[in-house]
Amino acid sequence: MLEIEPLNPALVDAIVQRDGGNGWKNDPTGWVNILSQHNAGARLVLVASEAGAPVGYGSLVWRSGYPPFADAGTPELHDLVTARSHRHQGVGTTLIASLAKSARNRGHTTIGLGVGLYADYGPAQRLYAALGYQPDGRGLTYQNGPVPPGATIRADDDLILWMVKNLA
Ligand SMILES: CC(C)(COP(=O)(O)OP(=O)(O)OC[C@H]1O[C@@H](n2cnc3c(N)ncnc32)[C@H](O)[C@@H]1OP(=O)(O)O)[C@@H](O)C(=O)NCCC(=O)NCCS
Repeated sequence: MLEIEPLNPALVDAIVQRDGGNGWKNDPTGWVNILSQHNAGARLVLVASEAGAPVGYGSLVWRSGYPPFADAGTPELHDLVTARSHRHQGVGTTLIASLAKSARNRGHTTIGLGVGLYADYGPAQRLYAALGYQPDGRGLTYQNGPVPPGATIRADDDLILWMVKNLA
């Protein structure tokens, strides 16, 4: 059975020791920053565990680094990853539902997210569309700046399509 709980130092230790496949963060120094943001209330990190072992995690960043979300007060779903061994079992969907519930409980009516465009992000693109997230209508950004028509842009992790969902 899946258990969803807020991040704590013991969960960080268990996450960094696991090989979760692409996207999974194993660098302990990165997690120091994430845990301190979580403890400071700047982000909410939820961890999904099965049989006492973490199998996925995701965050809500209350003040997004993407200016249109920040201006609108739209929290951003961030850093969602399911361990490769546990994909296609509903872990990602459950984490998103739990994070969306937390956003709703804080009075938010909209939630946003950014997704990359190359094939590694294909499962995430499909999942977000299936869950009702739609492009925010502003086109692509590269390093948080708009991509103008005709631009030649590298398709790496900084090339993002932003999506939103009304929680009402
Ligand atoms: C994106 C990601 C988090 C999805 O996690 P997940 O736990 O596999 O998500 P879910 O299981 O909820 O949904 C994935 C698919 O499984 C299907 N599914 C869900 N529960 C299922 C079940 N019980 N049985 C069979 N299929 C199921 C979903 O319908 C969805 O189908 P799709 O392939 O048609 O889109 C995961 O692929 C991942 O970690 N990717 C790498 C990191 C990444 O890209 N993160 C997003 C950054 S923006």
